Amino acid sequence: APGSPALTPPLGWNSWNSFGCGGVNETVIRQAADTMVSSGMRDAGYQYVVVDDCWFDPQRDAQGNLRAHPTKFPSGMKALGDYIHGRGLKFGIYQVPTERTCAQGGGAHPGSTGSMGHEVQDARSFASWGVDYLKYDWCSSSGTRDQQVARFTIMRDALRATGRPIVYSINPNSYHAPTGDKYNWGEVADLWRTTEDLLDIWQNGNTNSYPMGVGNVVDVTAPLAVQAGPGHWNDPDMLVVGRPGLTLTESRSHFALWALMAAPLMAGNDIRTMSADVSAILRSPRLLAVNQDSLGAGGRRVRDDGTTEVFAKPLADGSVAVGLFNRGNATATVSTTPAQIGLSGGSFTLTDLWTGATSSSTGQLSASVPAHGVAAYRVSGGSPVASTTSRLRGAGSGRC
Ligand code: GLA
Repeated sequence: APGSPALTPPLGWNSWNSFGCGGVNETVIRQAADTMVSSGMRDAGYQYVVVDDCWFDPQRDAQGNLRAHPTKFPSGMKALGDYIHGRGLKFGIYQVPTERTCAQGGGAHPGSTGSMGHEVQDARSFASWGVDYLKYDWCSSSGTRDQQVARFTIMRDALRATGRPIVYSINPNSYHAPTGDKYNWGEVADLWRTTEDLLDIWQNGNTNSYPMGVGNVVDVTAPLAVQAGPGHWNDPDMLVVGRPGLTLTESRSHFALWALMAAPLMAGNDIRTMSADVSAILRSPRLLAVNQDSLGAGGRRVRDDGTTEVFAKPLADGSVAVGLFNRGNATATVSTTPAQIGLSGGSFTLTDLWTGATSSSTGQLSASVPAHGVAAYRVSGGSPVASTTSRLRGAGSGRC
């Protein structure tokens, strides 16, 4: 939205995918914040620690103020914000514009403490606790588009009125438009969910309905690339990198595709216990640089051959990040041309975004990509440089 604090896609961690409603508490959140530091995620650029649904007391206080759940968050939300800020990180929280949060509506958490009718009061509470990021989730099967725009705008204005920069992340899609929301929310929010919840599955058929897998979310979000830019981002949902339902190759592909789509990268795995391989995926420096590129362009799907696809994301320095995506179950050669990815000229340098190895090209870009893999390169014009042969860890090899 105009004036957004999110000039590049937000990077962080969110409690929902691993802790849901029952498992979230202040100990887990503090440990996640500690791990953001000790794992190197903070130094790689991750900032936001977001407490999702079920942090609140089922009852507002006598003045109608929200308050922390007494046994899950006994120290209160201000203390939690202080803890997170003390580690050089930023504090995110969850709420809804309707009457009940998703967990309250589904019966996992008692009460009816949504922000409807309390927007200004709740925004002030968030600001007083040091909140830097609000995830605001429609969570209702009713409501027209106009009603959604109106209610999401009320909270946008309430957050602005606090004077505190608070990233505004909305989800118009819980139960509302599971097959994808084509509405451009760029005037209202800093990021907006494009689909129903992403689970740790590769692909759920071709119907693009709940539960969404990586391939389904890509199909819905890819056509929306033109909406992405500084301060307004498509949100294809939090990362399932490192969650049990994906192989390591699939986690790498998911991460590369989200980086190329200029998606917010919100880790959702239990980072306290993640493997070195998963940690390395989340901290991949060249893919993070592509994601955080100042131009803020969304990666476009420039070629779709059915089981193989090509994504291209223009970068601020005139180079282009390219993903060669093999959705299928067997190794495949995936190819593209300079013209297809938006470059002209005769000779290019390719940097493998996973390994950093460079090679040169004078024409077609092509790689053998394993099943469910993504080979990813930064392609820059100019004279070829001395090269080494690139070989992706489990994700193909580039050649020209
Ligand atoms: C919805 C959202 C999820 C999560 C849950 C919390 O399903 O899409 O991301 O916030 O609600 O209940």
